[in-house]
Amino acid sequence: MIIKPKFRGFVCATAHPEGCAYLVKKQIQYVKAEQQLEGPKRVLVIGASTGYGLASRIVAAFGCGASTIGVSLEKNALHNTTATAGWYNTVTFEKEAAAAGLYSRSINGDAFSNEIKEKTIELIKQDLKKIDLVVYSIAAPRRTDPATGEMSSSVIKPIGKPFTSKTINLNSHDLYDVTLEPASEEEIRQTVKVMGGEDWQLWLETLENAGVLAEGVKTVSYSYIGPELTYPIYTGGTIGKAKEHLVATAKLLNDQLESVGGQAFVSVNKALVTQASAAIPVVPLYLMLLTKVMESKNINEDCIEQIYRLFADRLYAAGGRFDETTVIRIDDRELREDVQAEVLQLWEQVCSGNQDVSGAVERFRREFLNLFGFEYENIDYEQESEAEQGHPHIL
Ligand code: NAI
Repeated sequence: MIIKPKFRGFVCATAHPEGCAYLVKKQIQYVKAEQQLEGPKRVLVIGASTGYGLASRIVAAFGCGASTIGVSLEKNALHNTTATAGWYNTVTFEKEAAAAGLYSRSINGDAFSNEIKEKTIELIKQDLKKIDLVVYSIAAPRRTDPATGEMSSSVIKPIGKPFTSKTINLNSHDLYDVTLEPASEEEIRQTVKVMGGEDWQLWLETLENAGVLAEGVKTVSYSYIGPELTYPIYTGGTIGKAKEHLVATAKLLNDQLESVGGQAFVSVNKALVTQASAAIPVVPLYLMLLTKVMESKNINEDCIEQIYRLFADRLYAAGGRFDETTVIRIDDRELREDVQAEVLQLWEQVCSGNQDVSGAVERFRREFLNLFGFEYENIDYEQESEAEQGHPHIL
Protein backbone atom coordinates (compact mmCIF):
# COMPACT_ATOMS: atom_id res chain seq x y z
CA MET A 1 0.00 0.00 0.00
CA ILE A 2 1.12 3.58 -0.64
CA ILE A 3 1.15 5.33 2.72
CA LYS A 4 0.61 9.06 3.22
CA PRO A 5 -0.03 11.04 6.41
CA LYS A 6 -3.68 11.24 7.44
CA PHE A 7 -4.52 13.67 10.23
CA ARG A 8 -7.18 13.08 12.85
CA GLY A 9 -7.20 16.09 15.20
CA PHE A 10 -3.81 16.24 16.89
CA VAL A 11 -2.77 12.78 15.85
CA CYS A 12 -1.58 11.38 12.59
CA ALA A 13 -3.68 8.29 11.94
CA THR A 14 -1.15 6.60 9.65
CA ALA A 15 2.50 5.66 10.01
CA HIS A 16 5.18 4.69 7.52
CA PRO A 17 7.12 1.47 8.22
CA GLU A 18 10.34 2.42 6.43
CA GLY A 19 10.26 5.95 7.88
CA CYS A 20 9.78 4.65 11.42
CA ALA A 21 12.59 2.15 10.87
CA TYR A 22 14.83 5.00 9.76
CA LEU A 23 14.07 7.01 12.93
CA VAL A 24 14.90 4.03 15.18
CA LYS A 25 18.10 3.19 13.27
CA LYS A 26 19.23 6.81 13.45
CA GLN A 27 18.91 6.73 17.23
CA ILE A 28 20.78 3.42 17.40
CA GLN A 29 23.57 4.92 15.27
CA TYR A 30 23.81 7.91 17.58
CA VAL A 31 24.27 5.68 20.64
CA LYS A 32 26.75 3.37 18.92
CA ALA A 33 28.92 6.36 18.01
CA GLU A 34 29.06 7.46 21.67
CA GLN A 35 31.18 5.84 24.34
CA GLN A 36 29.85 2.49 25.61
CA LEU A 37 28.60 2.71 29.19
CA GLU A 38 29.08 0.54 32.26
CA GLY A 39 25.35 0.39 32.78
CA PRO A 40 22.53 -2.03 33.56
CA LYS A 41 22.48 -5.47 31.96
CA ARG A 42 18.82 -6.50 32.36
CA VAL A 43 16.34 -3.72 31.71
CA LEU A 44 12.56 -3.45 31.73
CA VAL A 45 11.10 -0.41 29.91
CA ILE A 46 7.40 0.28 30.44
CA GLY A 47 6.23 2.56 27.59
CA ALA A 48 9.05 1.42 25.30
CA SER A 49 7.78 2.07 21.79
CA THR A 50 8.05 5.84 21.23
CA GLY A 51 9.52 9.05 22.69
CA TYR A 52 11.56 8.88 25.87
CA GLY A 53 10.82 5.19 26.55
CA LEU A 54 12.09 4.06 23.14
CA ALA A 55 15.22 6.20 23.59
CA SER A 56 15.76 4.60 27.03
CA ARG A 57 15.52 1.14 25.54
CA ILE A 58 17.97 2.04 22.77
CA VAL A 59 20.51 3.52 25.21
CA ALA A 60 20.19 0.47 27.49
CA ALA A 61 20.60 -2.03 24.65
CA PHE A 62 23.06 -0.34 22.29
CA GLY A 63 24.85 1.86 24.83
CA CYS A 64 25.15 -0.64 27.70
CA GLY A 65 24.74 -4.00 25.92
CA ALA A 66 21.66 -4.76 28.04
CA SER A 67 19.01 -7.38 27.47
CA THR A 68 15.70 -5.54 27.31
CA ILE A 69 12.03 -6.27 27.77
CA GLY A 70 9.76 -3.50 26.49
CA VAL A 71 6.07 -3.08 27.30
CA SER A 72 3.84 -0.87 25.20
CA LEU A 73 0.36 -0.54 23.76
CA GLU A 74 0.44 -0.39 19.98
CA LYS A 75 -1.54 -1.75 17.03
CA ASN A 76 -0.52 -3.72 13.96
CA ALA A 77 -2.09 -2.93 10.58
CA LEU A 78 -5.63 -4.13 10.01
CA HIS A 79 -7.62 -4.03 6.74
CA ASN A 80 -6.95 -0.61 5.22
CA THR A 81 -5.09 0.99 8.11
CA THR A 82 -1.40 1.06 8.84
CA ALA A 83 0.12 -0.06 12.15
CA THR A 84 0.91 2.63 14.72
CA ALA A 85 4.34 4.25 14.66
CA GLY A 86 5.21 2.56 17.96
CA TRP A 87 4.46 -0.83 16.41
CA TYR A 88 6.85 -0.23 13.50
CA ASN A 89 9.45 1.16 15.93
CA THR A 90 9.19 -1.99 18.02
CA VAL A 91 9.52 -4.27 14.97
CA THR A 92 12.66 -2.36 13.95
CA PHE A 93 14.09 -2.42 17.45
CA GLU A 94 13.59 -6.20 17.63
CA LYS A 95 15.27 -6.73 14.26
CA GLU A 96 18.23 -4.52 15.14
CA ALA A 97 18.65 -6.08 18.60
CA ALA A 98 18.59 -9.59 17.12
CA ALA A 99 21.14 -8.58 14.47
CA ALA A 100 23.41 -7.23 17.22
CA GLY A 101 23.06 -10.43 19.27
CA LEU A 102 21.14 -8.68 22.05
CA TYR A 103 18.32 -10.39 23.94
CA SER A 104 15.06 -8.51 23.46
CA ARG A 105 11.35 -9.21 23.86
CA SER A 106 8.39 -6.85 23.50
CA ILE A 107 5.08 -7.29 25.27
CA ASN A 108 2.16 -5.54 23.61
CA GLY A 109 -0.75 -4.82 25.93
CA ASP A 110 -2.16 -2.60 28.66
CA ALA A 111 0.62 -1.95 31.19
CA PHE A 112 -1.98 -0.83 33.73
CA SER A 113 -3.52 -4.33 33.87
CA ASN A 114 -2.60 -7.17 36.23
CA GLU A 115 -2.48 -9.52 33.26
CA ILE A 116 0.38 -7.68 31.53
CA LYS A 117 2.30 -7.32 34.80
CA GLU A 118 2.02 -11.08 35.36
CA LYS A 119 2.99 -11.87 31.77
CA THR A 120 6.09 -9.65 32.13
CA ILE A 121 7.11 -11.32 35.38
CA GLU A 122 6.75 -14.79 33.85
CA LEU A 123 9.01 -13.72 31.00
CA ILE A 124 11.60 -12.26 33.39
CA LYS A 125 11.60 -15.44 35.48
CA GLN A 126 11.99 -17.56 32.38
CA ASP A 127 14.68 -15.55 30.59
CA LEU A 128 16.40 -12.80 32.59
CA LYS A 129 15.77 -13.97 36.19
CA LYS A 130 16.34 -10.47 37.64
CA ILE A 131 16.06 -6.83 36.53
CA ASP A 132 18.69 -4.11 37.20
CA LEU A 133 16.75 -1.12 35.84
CA VAL A 134 13.04 -0.38 35.45
CA VAL A 135 12.22 2.64 33.27
CA TYR A 136 8.63 3.86 33.56
CA SER A 137 7.74 6.08 30.59
CA ILE A 138 4.00 5.84 30.04
CA ALA A 139 2.00 8.74 28.61
CA ALA A 140 -1.62 7.66 28.40
CA PRO A 141 -5.01 9.30 28.01
CA ARG A 142 -6.80 6.88 30.35
CA ARG A 143 -6.29 4.09 32.83
CA THR A 144 -8.46 1.36 34.30
CA ASP A 145 -7.61 0.66 37.94
CA PRO A 146 -7.13 -3.13 38.08
CA ALA A 147 -8.35 -3.32 41.68
CA THR A 148 -11.65 -1.45 41.26
CA GLY A 149 -12.29 -1.47 37.50
CA GLU A 150 -12.70 2.32 37.66
CA MET A 151 -11.69 4.11 34.46
CA SER A 152 -9.94 7.50 34.82
CA SER A 153 -9.07 9.99 32.09
CA SER A 154 -6.26 12.53 32.13
CA VAL A 155 -6.88 16.11 31.06
CA ILE A 156 -4.50 18.99 30.45
CA LYS A 157 -6.05 21.99 32.17
CA PRO A 158 -5.03 24.82 34.47
CA ILE A 159 -6.04 24.77 38.12
CA GLY A 160 -7.92 27.49 40.01
CA LYS A 161 -8.53 29.99 37.20
CA PRO A 162 -8.79 30.08 33.41
CA PHE A 163 -5.57 30.50 31.43
CA THR A 164 -5.39 32.51 28.22
CA SER A 165 -2.35 32.38 25.97
CA LYS A 166 -1.23 32.36 22.37
CA THR A 167 -1.28 29.11 20.50
CA ILE A 168 -0.73 28.23 16.88
CA ASN A 169 -2.78 26.51 14.22
CA LEU A 170 -0.28 24.12 12.71
CA ASN A 171 -2.06 24.01 9.37
CA SER A 172 -2.77 27.69 8.70
CA HIS A 173 0.15 29.02 10.82
CA ASP A 174 -2.36 31.42 12.41
CA LEU A 175 -1.71 32.61 15.93
CA TYR A 176 -4.75 32.95 18.13
CA ASP A 177 -5.69 33.25 21.78
CA VAL A 178 -6.84 30.12 23.49
CA THR A 179 -8.56 30.14 26.87
CA LEU A 180 -8.55 27.00 28.91
CA GLU A 181 -11.08 26.62 31.68
CA PRO A 182 -9.79 25.32 35.02
CA ALA A 183 -10.13 21.66 35.90
CA SER A 184 -12.68 20.40 38.40
CA GLU A 185 -11.51 18.53 41.51
CA GLU A 186 -12.66 15.31 39.88
CA GLU A 187 -10.61 16.01 36.72
CA ILE A 188 -7.53 16.66 38.86
CA ARG A 189 -8.08 13.42 40.77
CA GLN A 190 -8.47 11.40 37.59
CA THR A 191 -5.38 12.95 35.93
CA VAL A 192 -3.31 12.00 38.98
CA LYS A 193 -4.74 8.46 38.79
CA VAL A 194 -3.55 8.14 35.17
CA MET A 195 -0.30 10.12 35.06
CA GLY A 196 0.76 10.06 38.74
CA GLY A 197 2.87 7.36 40.34
CA GLU A 198 0.22 4.81 41.36
CA ASP A 199 0.86 2.38 38.51
CA TRP A 200 4.65 2.84 38.74
CA GLN A 201 4.45 1.83 42.39
CA LEU A 202 2.21 -1.14 41.56
CA TRP A 203 4.77 -2.34 39.01
CA LEU A 204 7.62 -2.11 41.50
CA GLU A 205 5.60 -3.81 44.24
CA THR A 206 4.61 -6.64 41.92
CA LEU A 207 8.18 -7.08 40.68
CA GLU A 208 9.56 -7.03 44.21
CA ASN A 209 6.99 -9.53 45.49
CA ALA A 210 7.89 -11.85 42.61
CA GLY A 211 11.55 -11.66 43.66
CA VAL A 212 12.77 -10.43 40.28
CA LEU A 213 14.46 -7.18 41.34
CA ALA A 214 18.25 -7.46 41.44
CA GLU A 215 20.30 -6.16 44.36
CA GLY A 216 20.95 -2.44 43.75
CA VAL A 217 18.08 -2.11 41.22
CA LYS A 218 17.31 1.38 39.93
CA THR A 219 14.02 2.71 38.69
CA VAL A 220 13.35 5.98 36.89
CA SER A 221 10.25 7.77 35.70
CA TYR A 222 10.07 10.98 33.64
CA SER A 223 8.72 14.42 34.41
CA TYR A 224 8.69 17.93 33.01
CA ILE A 225 8.77 21.33 34.70
CA GLY A 226 9.51 23.97 32.06
CA PRO A 227 9.46 27.76 32.20
CA GLU A 228 6.98 30.29 33.58
CA LEU A 229 5.42 30.64 30.13
CA THR A 230 3.89 27.17 30.24
CA TYR A 231 3.55 27.01 34.02
CA PRO A 232 -0.26 27.54 34.22
CA ILE A 233 -0.93 24.78 31.68
CA TYR A 234 1.76 22.36 32.79
CA THR A 235 3.48 22.47 36.17
CA GLY A 236 0.74 24.54 37.80
CA GLY A 237 -2.01 22.53 36.10
CA THR A 238 -3.49 19.03 36.27
CA ILE A 239 -0.46 17.31 34.77
CA GLY A 240 1.81 19.10 37.27
CA LYS A 241 -0.28 17.63 40.09
CA ALA A 242 0.26 14.18 38.59
CA LYS A 243 4.00 14.84 38.39
CA GLU A 244 4.04 15.95 42.06
CA HIS A 245 2.50 12.58 42.84
CA LEU A 246 5.24 10.92 40.80
CA VAL A 247 7.94 12.55 42.93
CA ALA A 248 6.12 11.58 46.14
CA THR A 249 5.95 8.02 44.79
CA ALA A 250 9.69 8.00 44.08
CA LYS A 251 10.30 8.88 47.73
CA LEU A 252 8.03 6.03 48.86
CA LEU A 253 9.76 3.66 46.44
CA ASN A 254 13.13 4.62 47.85
CA ASP A 255 11.99 3.28 51.23
CA GLN A 256 10.27 0.29 49.71
CA LEU A 257 13.35 -0.71 47.71
CA GLU A 258 15.69 -0.58 50.72
CA SER A 259 15.37 -4.35 51.15
CA VAL A 260 17.14 -4.82 47.78
CA GLY A 261 19.40 -1.77 48.08
CA GLY A 262 17.43 -0.12 45.28
CA GLN A 263 16.90 3.53 44.33
CA ALA A 264 14.05 5.38 42.62
CA PHE A 265 14.43 8.57 40.59
CA VAL A 266 12.31 11.04 38.71
CA SER A 267 14.24 12.58 35.85
CA VAL A 268 13.01 15.99 34.74
CA ASN A 269 13.56 16.01 31.00
CA LYS A 270 13.58 18.61 28.26
CA ALA A 271 10.41 19.47 26.32
CA LEU A 272 10.36 17.64 23.02
CA VAL A 273 8.10 17.02 20.10
CA THR A 274 6.44 13.68 20.86
CA GLN A 275 2.93 12.36 20.28
CA ALA A 276 2.08 13.35 23.87
CA SER A 277 3.46 16.91 23.92
CA ALA A 278 2.08 18.03 20.54
CA ALA A 279 -1.43 17.73 21.92
CA ILE A 280 -0.89 20.25 24.73
CA PRO A 281 -2.15 23.76 23.84
CA VAL A 282 0.51 26.53 23.95
CA VAL A 283 3.35 23.97 24.18
CA PRO A 284 3.98 23.59 20.41
CA LEU A 285 4.62 27.34 20.01
CA TYR A 286 6.97 27.31 22.99
CA LEU A 287 8.72 24.23 21.59
CA MET A 288 9.25 25.89 18.21
CA LEU A 289 10.92 28.89 19.76
CA LEU A 290 12.92 26.76 22.19
CA THR A 291 14.30 24.63 19.37
CA LYS A 292 15.26 27.72 17.41
CA VAL A 293 17.15 29.23 20.37
CA MET A 294 18.82 26.00 21.51
CA GLU A 295 19.93 25.26 17.97
CA SER A 296 21.43 28.70 17.55
CA LYS A 297 23.51 27.93 20.66
CA ASN A 298 24.36 24.44 19.44
CA ILE A 299 22.88 22.80 22.53
CA ASN A 300 19.66 21.34 21.15
CA GLU A 301 18.89 17.77 22.17
CA ASP A 302 16.39 15.14 21.09
CA CYS A 303 15.08 12.18 23.17
CA ILE A 304 18.14 10.07 22.42
CA GLU A 305 20.70 12.74 23.39
CA GLN A 306 18.75 13.47 26.60
CA ILE A 307 18.58 9.85 27.67
CA TYR A 308 22.18 9.07 26.75
CA ARG A 309 23.22 12.01 28.96
CA LEU A 310 20.90 10.79 31.74
CA PHE A 311 22.60 7.39 31.73
CA ALA A 312 26.17 8.60 31.12
CA ASP A 313 26.32 11.61 33.45
CA ARG A 314 23.80 10.69 36.11
CA LEU A 315 22.32 7.20 36.58
CA TYR A 316 25.46 5.32 35.53
CA ALA A 317 28.09 8.04 35.82
CA ALA A 318 31.60 6.67 36.13
CA GLY A 319 32.34 6.30 39.82
CA GLY A 320 28.58 6.11 40.46
CA ARG A 321 28.35 9.62 41.92
CA PHE A 322 26.05 12.46 41.00
CA ASP A 323 24.59 15.28 43.04
CA GLU A 324 20.88 14.76 42.83
CA THR A 325 18.91 12.44 45.06
CA THR A 326 15.50 11.35 43.81
CA VAL A 327 14.90 14.23 41.36
CA ILE A 328 17.41 14.46 38.50
CA ARG A 329 17.51 17.59 36.34
CA ILE A 330 18.42 16.81 32.75
CA ASP A 331 16.43 19.84 31.60
CA ASP A 332 19.34 22.07 32.66
CA ARG A 333 20.10 23.30 29.12
CA GLU A 334 16.46 24.13 28.35
CA LEU A 335 16.18 26.16 31.53
CA ARG A 336 19.48 28.01 31.19
CA GLU A 337 18.89 31.71 31.88
CA ASP A 338 20.22 32.88 28.50
CA VAL A 339 18.06 30.32 26.65
CA GLN A 340 14.88 31.28 28.47
CA ALA A 341 15.56 35.02 28.09
CA GLU A 342 15.83 34.63 24.31
CA VAL A 343 12.75 32.38 24.11
CA LEU A 344 10.75 34.97 26.03
CA GLN A 345 11.97 37.76 23.80
CA LEU A 346 10.99 35.77 20.68
CA TRP A 347 7.65 34.89 22.26
CA GLU A 348 6.85 38.58 22.77
CA GLN A 349 7.91 39.44 19.23
CA VAL A 350 5.76 36.63 17.82
CA CYS A 351 2.74 37.66 19.87
CA SER A 352 3.03 41.26 18.73
CA GLY A 353 3.32 40.15 15.10
CA ASN A 354 6.96 41.24 14.76
CA GLN A 355 8.50 37.88 14.12
CA ASP A 356 7.83 35.54 11.24
CA VAL A 357 7.41 32.02 12.58
CA SER A 358 6.64 30.19 9.35
CA GLY A 359 10.09 28.56 9.24
CA ALA A 360 9.74 27.36 12.82
CA VAL A 361 6.19 26.08 12.19
CA GLU A 362 7.34 24.15 9.14
CA ARG A 363 10.13 22.59 11.14
CA PHE A 364 7.73 21.61 13.93
CA ARG A 365 5.35 20.04 11.42
CA ARG A 366 8.22 18.12 9.90
CA GLU A 367 9.46 16.88 13.28
CA PHE A 368 5.93 15.90 14.24
CA LEU A 369 5.48 13.97 10.98
CA ASN A 370 8.91 12.38 11.44
CA LEU A 371 7.47 10.69 14.55
CA PHE A 372 5.16 8.78 12.21
CA GLY A 373 7.89 8.04 9.69
CA PHE A 374 7.00 10.80 7.21
CA GLU A 375 8.94 13.68 5.64
CA TYR A 376 12.34 12.00 5.39
CA GLU A 377 14.14 13.01 2.24
CA ASN A 378 15.78 9.65 1.77
CA ILE A 379 12.49 7.73 1.71
CA ASP A 380 10.41 7.36 -1.43
CA TYR A 381 6.84 7.78 -0.30
CA GLU A 382 5.47 6.84 -3.73
CA GLN A 383 6.74 3.27 -3.26
CA GLU A 384 4.46 0.50 -2.04
CA SER A 385 5.03 -0.46 1.61
CA GLU A 386 4.04 -3.59 3.48
CA ALA A 387 1.74 -2.14 6.15
CA GLU A 388 1.37 -5.32 8.16
CA GLN A 389 4.62 -6.12 9.94
CA GLY A 390 5.51 -8.50 12.70
CA HIS A 391 8.35 -10.04 14.64
CA PRO A 392 8.42 -13.30 16.60
CA HIS A 393 9.75 -11.43 19.64
CA ILE A 394 6.61 -9.29 19.93
CA LEU A 395 4.45 -11.20 22.39
P1 NAI B 1 4.99 9.00 24.04
O1 NAI B 1 3.56 9.25 23.73
O2 NAI B 1 6.00 9.15 22.97
O3 NAI B 1 5.16 7.48 24.63
C1 NAI B 1 4.24 6.89 25.47
C2 NAI B 1 4.50 5.39 25.61
O4 NAI B 1 3.52 4.85 26.51
C3 NAI B 1 4.37 4.59 24.31
O5 NAI B 1 5.36 3.58 24.30
C4 NAI B 1 2.99 3.93 24.44
O6 NAI B 1 2.86 2.70 23.73
C5 NAI B 1 2.97 3.68 25.93
N1 NAI B 1 1.62 3.48 26.48
C6 NAI B 1 0.59 4.37 26.54
N2 NAI B 1 -0.47 3.79 27.16
C7 NAI B 1 -0.09 2.53 27.49
C8 NAI B 1 -0.72 1.45 28.15
N3 NAI B 1 -1.96 1.54 28.63
N4 NAI B 1 -0.03 0.29 28.28
C9 NAI B 1 1.24 0.16 27.81
N5 NAI B 1 1.89 1.16 27.21
C10 NAI B 1 1.23 2.32 27.05
O7 NAI B 1 5.31 9.90 25.31
P2 NAI B 1 6.62 10.67 25.83
O8 NAI B 1 6.51 12.10 25.45
O9 NAI B 1 7.85 9.91 25.53
O10 NAI B 1 6.34 10.62 27.40
C11 NAI B 1 6.88 9.64 28.26
C12 NAI B 1 7.05 10.25 29.64
O11 NAI B 1 7.99 11.34 29.55
C13 NAI B 1 5.76 10.85 30.23
O12 NAI B 1 5.74 10.62 31.61
C14 NAI B 1 5.92 12.34 29.95
O13 NAI B 1 5.19 13.14 30.85
C15 NAI B 1 7.43 12.49 30.15
N6 NAI B 1 8.02 13.70 29.55
C16 NAI B 1 7.75 14.09 28.26
C17 NAI B 1 8.28 15.25 27.75
C18 NAI B 1 7.99 15.71 26.35
O14 NAI B 1 8.25 16.88 26.05
N7 NAI B 1 7.50 14.87 25.50
C19 NAI B 1 9.17 16.11 28.56
C20 NAI B 1 9.49 15.56 29.85
C21 NAI B 1 8.90 14.41 30.33
